[in-house]
Amino acid sequence: PNQNEDNLRSPICCIMGHVDTGKTKLLDCIRGTNVQEGEAGGITQQIGATYFPAENIRERTKELKADAKLKVPGLLVIDTPGHESFTNLRSRGSGLCDIAILVVDIMHGLEPQTIESLNLLKMRNTEFIVALNKVDRLYGWKVCKNAPIVKAMKQQSKDVQFEFNTRLTQIVTQFKEQGINTELYYKNKEMGKDTFSIVPTSAISGEGIPDMLLLLVQWTQKTMIERLTYSNEVQCTVLEVKVVEGHGTTIDVVLVNGVLHEGDQIVGPIVTTIRALLTPHPMKELRVKGTYLHHKKIKAAQGIKITAQVLSTTCKSVSSFLVSLRIKLRKSIW
Ligand code: GTP
Ligand code: MG
Ligand code: NA
Repeated sequence: PNQNEDNLRSPICCIMGHVDTGKTKLLDCIRGTNVQEGEAGGITQQIGATYFPAENIRERTKELKADAKLKVPGLLVIDTPGHESFTNLRSRGSGLCDIAILVVDIMHGLEPQTIESLNLLKMRNTEFIVALNKVDRLYGWKVCKNAPIVKAMKQQSKDVQFEFNTRLTQIVTQFKEQGINTELYYKNKEMGKDTFSIVPTSAISGEGIPDMLLLLVQWTQKTMIERLTYSNEVQCTVLEVKVVEGHGTTIDVVLVNGVLHEGDQIVGPIVTTIRALLTPHPMKELRVKGTYLHHKKIKAAQGIKITAQVLSTTCKSVSSFLVSLRIKLRKSIW
């Protein structure tokens, strides 16, 4: 069939992995934000969502001189917690996404929640890339801020390169033990076929970040046509219900497909009307308090804060109301 490129939604990418491997920090590095340092105990405790417009991704991959022209409007990245108690959130995050980034700490290799995440991805047949993060912690690493990884690697001493290769080989073996073939992305000609790509990164000094973004772009270009066409049916997942100063009770959602309009009815156990559709600015995290953009309508994929009439008018005891609403909303189909 004739594919209209204006009719493609933004892909959703989920970032997963063991606690403290650097998932949030990697996103901070791309966004130019400091979300991770504001987290209680440095631990992510809820699902996040950030929209990256195509032009920002293009800008960030410029130095690789590859064709990074996105045919989609942008990329929605979902941040998930790595702590063992949040299996449900990892499961929900991986259930939403079109592609994933599995983050592994190069100093630690595969850890329990790496394997758990891997199994969630296998179960749904989700394609992923491996970000082998914290390369700057290799002893004697020479910082090449935001450089493509091959360029950065050439600057390193023989000792650093040796340590890198030793750790890489161990991690490739660990993946093999899980039934997964992996290879450094620039040696992986089969990309995405049977062998998953590894991209070395540092969330602190930015090496490999252009490569990671380019891999995501290349993947979406390859598989866009089959997956990313708009449907008229709204597909939406509730992340969080909370009170936001000046906005009353709000519902954070990920719009996976379709279009939401101001005034649309939410039909479920509770019937209500969308009063306002809010998003953070591009490259800002939905779960972090900030200023919001108002929209008359929003196309998928997006992380959205909805304010709904009934919520702020019928709510006497906010906390008990929220608990029941949260349960009901999770079960409802929007
Ligand atoms: P959870 O969401 O709690 O599972 O953790 P996370 O995977 O999001 O990791 P986070 O971004 O919270 O980073 C954990 C710690 O590792 C922080 O202290 C970061 O500063 C540090 N860190 C993350 N990435 C890097 C990196 O590339 N290099 C170095 N040296 N430290 C890093
Ligand atoms: Mg985190
Ligand atoms: Na953390």
